Amino acid sequence: MFAMRLAALLYLLQLVAGDECEETPQFLQHSLQLDAQEVQAAHSKTSRSVKAKTSTFPGVETFNFFVNFHDVGDFATVINVITHQSKSCSQCGGFLFTCQEDGLTDDECQMRQPGVCTNDFGPHGCSSHTSLRILEEAISGEPMTKAINVSDLTSLKNLWPDSKRHDLLTRSAQSLSWLPLWWGPLRRILTTTVLRDPVKKLRSAYNRINETHPMPLKAFLKAQRDFVAGNASDQMPPLRKAVMSCCEYSFYLGNGDVNKSRRVLASQFDMVGIAELLPETMVSLGRLYGKTPAGMGTIARDALLEVPDAEDWDKEDQDMVEFITRKDRAVYEFAKELFERQSVSIWNNADVLKKQADLFEDARNTPWEPE
Ligand SMILES: *[C@@H]1O[C@H](CO)[C@@H](O)[C@H](O)[C@H]1NC(C)=O
Ligand SMILES: *[C@@H]1O[C@H](CO)[C@@H](O)[C@H](O)[C@H]1NC(C)=O
Ligand SMILES: *[C@@H]1O[C@H](CO)[C@@H](O)[C@H](O)[C@H]1NC(C)=O
Ligand SMILES: *[C@@H]1O[C@H](CO)[C@@H](O)[C@H](O)[C@H]1NC(C)=O
Repeated sequence: MFAMRLAALLYLLQLVAGDECEETPQFLQHSLQLDAQEVQAAHSKTSRSVKAKTSTFPGVETFNFFVNFHDVGDFATVINVITHQSKSCSQCGGFLFTCQEDGLTDDECQMRQPGVCTNDFGPHGCSSHTSLRILEEAISGEPMTKAINVSDLTSLKNLWPDSKRHDLLTRSAQSLSWLPLWWGPLRRILTTTVLRDPVKKLRSAYNRINETHPMPLKAFLKAQRDFVAGNASDQMPPLRKAVMSCCEYSFYLGNGDVNKSRRVLASQFDMVGIAELLPETMVSLGRLYGKTPAGMGTIARDALLEVPDAEDWDKEDQDMVEFITRKDRAVYEFAKELFERQSVSIWNNADVLKKQADLFEDARNTPWEPE
């Protein structure tokens, strides 16, 4: 409570101090500080690979915010591996959110406390599902129209400067466990997420929930449909995460508003990956976090990351599924457009991106060999 008031107070102080003056919009390249020589090398047809830049600029501290949706694949683990962060150091202030989702009481939740984060510098990242709640709280009540060109929403110029993104995130008290209160020029925020096709995500949510709370697929879908129609019935599965499977993207990215979700994606995210575009997503994440395409290929192989096959639905289920996921579908389609511009920009052009994706696939398909 105190931390929240303190954050609010600091925010007001910054307003009073005139921090509202316009900062130059931040291009993706600028935020990445891409080396001119690397870009040259990427252009040159003779260069076979672009050496990914390490993310450790001298003296610069990076704070990683990975918005971790359910059932998109194990990308949070990938992020923890490439940022050298242990699970206990990336819990975003504890298990509160997952406890709430699982319907645990506070006492039961105490039993679940994560291991102590033993990182000397404290946690520098947030990649657990609690990231969803942080984002939801941060954008709540904020129309997110400032410094955004709505007639060119996928423009990379819409990305807010780090200091403004920091101010927004610290509106959620949960942020203060991994973000410093005071921001400075030697600090950098790297916000990423990965979205998966909402229909596949829904099926995967069903499979997950059915393991612990078995129910027929149709009952699950009907409960989701009624929830989306504002017609929640007694048959609704008791768990919050079950009923949220319909619309996590639009709920957490935009407090339920699809257009706001689009503005939040465009203004807050250095990169929004697409699970179905696995190679392109992985090499671009690697580029942002200082890992080579081949390195990312090895990580993907060891983490058993796959592009999942489409599921079969009967006609009635198919209609329900389309109705249930229609809002998240709109968010996802926008994310694909945004990712296309981001990934091409990260690699300078589509040909270079394609080459990196091939290097990634080569490494992913190389069988593991004992030392
Ligand atoms: C917004 O985007 C449109 C379309 O690209 C462009 O014509 C316009 O100049 C942009 N506005 C600003 C303020 O940058
Ligand atoms: C749901 O779980 C039950 C019990 O484990 C299982 O028998 C059933 O096949 C699952 N349903 C589907 C559609 O996978
Ligand atoms: C809500 O549920 C009632 C009773 O099952 C049904 O008659 C009604 O058509 C439903 N409304 C919507 C919008 O689905
Ligand atoms: C969302 O944006 C689109 C395109 O700008 C617009 O046509 C639509 O009316 C907006 N929807 C809402 C609910 O504001």
